Amino acid sequence: MAPPLLLLLLLPLLAVAAEAVPPNPAAAGGSAPLVPTPWPEQFHAVMFTNLTESGGRLQLIDLYYDWPRGRNLNLIHNQLSGDPTYDVEWTNGTSYIFDSASCRTIRFPVGVLPPDWLHGAVYLGRESTDGFDCHLWTKVDFVWYYEDVLTHRPVRWNFFNGMQQHVMSFEVGGVLEDSHWQAPSHCFADDATAAAATGTDAASSLLRLARTTAAAVTSAA
Ligand SMILES: *[C@@H]1O[C@H](CO)[C@@H](O)[C@H](O)[C@H]1NC(C)=O
Ligand SMILES: *[C@@H]1O[C@H](CO)[C@@H](O)[C@H](O)[C@H]1NC(C)=O
Repeated sequence: MAPPLLLLLLLPLLAVAAEAVPPNPAAAGGSAPLVPTPWPEQFHAVMFTNLTESGGRLQLIDLYYDWPRGRNLNLIHNQLSGDPTYDVEWTNGTSYIFDSASCRTIRFPVGVLPPDWLHGAVYLGRESTDGFDCHLWTKVDFVWYYEDVLTHRPVRWNFFNGMQQHVMSFEVGGVLEDSHWQAPSHCFADDATAAAATGTDAASSLLRLARTTAAAVTSAA
C-alpha cells in the first residue's frame, strides 16, 4: 500500500482523536507512567519483524536511530534472502531505499521521529508480551507500544496494518559509522530504476507516518 493512501485512511482517525481526547487512565491510577520513556538520542536495535499479517514475510532489521545527526537507518534482512535492503532516512524528508542493484528515492514532508514521538499516547495498562511484563500505550490507534516495566526498554510495537516488531536487542548509544549512510552511486544515476514497492518499504515508512500523524494531531489540538 502506498504511503499517501495510508495517510488518507488515517484521516478519519485523526479527526476522532482531535474531537475527543480521552483522559489518560494513568493520571487517575497514580503509579502508572503517563508517557512512554523517550527514546535515547542514539541507539542500535535489532528488530524481529513479522509482516505475515500484512502480506509480507519475516525480517531481521538493524535499526540505527541517530537523532543528533538527523538520520535513521533500517538495514533490512529478508528471510532467506542474501542481499540486504538499506533504508536511509534523513531529517530533511529524503529517504534512499537501496540494495546492491536498485535504488528508490522517496521524499516525505516530515523527517526522522523525535525521541519523544510517543508523547500524547494513551495508556492502556499492563500486559505481558514476548514474556515481558510491559506497559502498553497506543497512539491514535496507529501504533501499539510495549515498554518493559522494569528496564523501560521497548519490547515490541505493532502497527495498525498488522506489522509486528519485536526488539531483540537495544544498545543505547549504538552508532553506525558515516560511510554506511552514504547512498550508492546508482541512486544518483539519471536512469536510476525504481524498485517495486514491497512490504519492506511500507514497514519503514510507517515510522515516518507515525511522525506525520503525531504532527497532525498536535496541530489539531
Ligand atoms: C507472525 O504473526 C502471525 C500473525 O499474528 C502469527 O500467527 C505468527 O505466529 C507470527 N510468526 C512468527 C514467527 O512470529
Ligand atoms: C537531504 O539530505 C540528504 C543527505 O545529506 C541529501 O542527500 C538529500 O539530497 C537532501 N534532500 C534535500 C531535498 O535537500
